Order: sequence, then C-alpha cells, then structure tokens
Amino acid sequence: MKKGFIDAVVGLQWGDEGKGKNIDELLSHGVYAGVARFQGGANAGHSLKIGDINFVGHIVPSGCLHKKMELYIGNGVVVDAPSLISEMAQLKSLGFDVSSRLYISNRAKLVSYLHPFLDMADEHMRGKSGTKVGTTSRGIGPAYSDVRARRSLLVGDILLPDFEQKVSTLVEFHENILNVYRDKYGFEIPEQKIKEAKEKWQNAVKEMKKLQICDLSFLIQQRLKAGKNILAEGAQAVMLDVDFGDYPNVTSSNTLPANVCLGLGVPHTVLRDIYGVMKAYTTKVGGGSFPARIEDEILEKAFQKAGNEFGATTGRPRMCGWIDLFALRHAIGLSGANKIFINKADICLSDKVKVVTGYKSEGKNLKEFPLYLNQVTSATREEIPGWGDANHGVKDKKKVSKELASYLNYIKNKLKDLNVKIISVGTGKDREDFFNWDK
Ligand code: IMO
Ligand code: MG
Repeated sequence: MKKGFIDAVVGLQWGDEGKGKNIDELLSHGVYAGVARFQGGANAGHSLKIGDINFVGHIVPSGCLHKKMELYIGNGVVVDAPSLISEMAQLKSLGFDVSSRLYISNRAKLVSYLHPFLDMADEHMRGKSGTKVGTTSRGIGPAYSDVRARRSLLVGDILLPDFEQKVSTLVEFHENILNVYRDKYGFEIPEQKIKEAKEKWQNAVKEMKKLQICDLSFLIQQRLKAGKNILAEGAQAVMLDVDFGDYPNVTSSNTLPANVCLGLGVPHTVLRDIYGVMKAYTTKVGGGSFPARIEDEILEKAFQKAGNEFGATTGRPRMCGWIDLFALRHAIGLSGANKIFINKADICLSDKVKVVTGYKSEGKNLKEFPLYLNQVTSATREEIPGWGDANHGVKDKKKVSKELASYLNYIKNKLKDLNVKIISVGTGKDREDFFNWDK
C-alpha cells in the first residue's frame, strides 16, 4: 500500500487569517483521516461555522465537526487542561463527542494553573517600560519557558504515581517567581483567584486521565504506514514565529511548517503540500510595529466592523492594515507555502487598496526583512482599484468582479517567482462562501 503523507496549513500573516474555515474546506474532500495540532496552545482561536453551528476551537483540532476525523494533539503543544475539557463538553452538547477520536501525545506539555498568572505578571512588568507583547494571557510564554528549562509537567505524567509530587515542585517554583513579581513590581493576584484556578485545573486534569494519552509519534507513523493522510493545523502564523517573527512581539513556539516534524514526531520526508492562509488585507493584535496599518482611523474601524476583527480568544479589537506583500514574501519564503487561500476578499471598504510592496529604513529600500520591524520608517505602497462589496458570497470564478479579479492577478504576479497558486478565495463566513481560482 502507498504510504500516507502530511500536508500543513500555516498562517502567512499575524494570525486570524481564517485558518479554521480553510481547514474545514480541506477536510471535506476525503483526503485526510486526521487533523493534528503541533505547536501553540489555547492562544489560538479557530472559528468554525457549519450551518447554524458556530464553534471556536482553542485547543481541540479543527476537524472536530467532521464526525469520522481523528484529532491529534502533538508533543509540541502546551495543553491547557481546563480549556480542553470545556471545549470537549461544548462539542458534546453540540452533538460531537470527540473523546473516542482524540489522541494526545504523552509528551505534550501541561500548562499549569499558575502559568497564566506568570504570563500576566510578565506583561505587567513589561508594561512599566511600555513594551508589552500583548499576549493572550493563556500562559504560553511561561509554559514554553518551562519546557526549555526542563521542568514542565508532561501530559503523560498525569498517569504516573509521582504526578502530585511533580506538581508541588513546579508550583513551589512558580510561587517563588510570583513573589518576586509581587515584591519587585507590585503585581499581586488575589488568593481567591488562585484557589479557583487551582480547583478548575485539578478537576480538568482528573478528567484528562480518561482521555487517550499515547505515544502519538508512534500512532501517527502507523497511520501513515497504513496509507492514511494527515493535515497538520498551524496555529498563530509565520509573523508570530519565535525565531522569524518580529521578536519579541511573537508567540513562544515555532509556527513554521518545519516544526510539524518536531511537534508531532515524524520525519521531514512525510511532508507534502504547505497551504498558506492570508486575508485580502492584514490584521494584527498585540504589541510591535505594523508598517501596513491603515492610517485613516475611521477606515480602520470600518474594517474591524465589516470583518468582525475582534479576537476569538481575547475579544480585543485587531489593528487593520492593507495587504503587505513584503511581509508575505518573507512568510512564503520561510514556510514554503505552495498553495494559497485568500480569505475575506468580499471585504473592501475603499475605492483604492494601498498595497504595501516594500519597506524603507531611513530612506533606503530594504531587500531583506529587518531584524526589528520598528526599524522600518516607511512603507512603499501601490494603489489598486477597490471592488466594494460586489463579491460577497460569490462562489463562481466567472462571477467575480473585474476589480477583484485584477487584484488577485496582481498578487499572483507579484509572487510569481515564489511559485504559489492561489487555490481558493473566501467571500463570506459560511463554509460554502468561496470560489476556486488557480486550478
Ligand atoms: P490564531 O491561531 C492572532 C499573538 C498575541 C500576542 C502574541 C503573543 O487564532 O491565528 P501569546 O499568548 O501567544 O504569548 O501572545 O501572539 N497571538 C495571536 N494573534 N491569532 C492567534 O492565533 C494568536 N495567538 C497568539 O496577540 O501578540
Ligand atoms: Mg486568533
């Protein structure tokens, strides 16, 4: 039998590109037997909409609404137990009990109940110098710090007799750090809040004992040997990658598809297509520079409203910008994305789209992506005619307005040397709202 392969989906901007919807679309062709998260944690917010059902997955992989799809949480993920258990309960109430098809790596790491507080404490400290990262407060940074410092709780530890001991050792360590934040930086958390978080966490961890915790690398390799294909679901995006994003305004994991292998425990030879996801414009939440930002505040607000650009995890308004081809070329080069989804192409609120094609630093055109985005002093923009709301809900390539068609051709032309195909263009929230573009 032919061996199976893994395709990956990666965000090409700063997250929130609509990856959930495209994953759902990719799963509907019967190519994949499972969907795997390989990095990140409950900082993701992947929205799924099928008919009247709306579900936002933070930690459960996006195949949850496909009844036969296996779901995998890989060793590269930091698992927030309360989020996992409450999402599973929510899915169950919607008629999707995922417990028999969800597999969690015993080598995945647990987010502890103090990690979110440590995350907030760190932001509080950074706030004093105006350098907040603007995290989702899900404890992602502290959880990955503990992984590197070799003191994390592994998901597999839950089932071992010395688990309580390991928890106490880690909690004591975290409490000591929180005391430093309190004494040195005035960050204090009410006892009651910690007590509540602890209880919630303990209950959720108890529930997790009943789940399928396994050697996921072995299981996935077995599936591949049996000819099954898997879709790896990237969370966050290239511009938030800890090594290649705008450090330190990044998340704490490697979001690039290169990390699929390490985050699931598979060799690079099984990777096939890389699906890159972008919007027809750009958004960003959190700290750091944003060279493509729309300068007109009223227009930015209009984009937020039309695109519902408010965080699925935190509810924060997202900054809105024009499409940024300079950043996209960086993201495509790093990720190797060969097939592109462009979402929210029905949203265009001005008669001119001011496409960013280059960055300048002190008058000089940059060839390479800058070390820090705040070194960019201006962005080169090209004006392209807008298309208003003519394309909302369009599902047929032949019905696309001439302005949007020329925008898509313009983008394709600008990315020509990178050999990408724009395979699908989104025109609305529903599963069916898209049209195929390049064959
Ligand atoms: P999805 O998968 C958009 C951003 C945060 C912050 C930075 C670090 O839905 O696209 P963290 O909590 O990860 O330590 O925060 O990363 N961020 C996201 N932005 N979409 C996401 O996920 C994000 N996950 C993290 O806003 O700037
Ligand atoms: Mg999000």
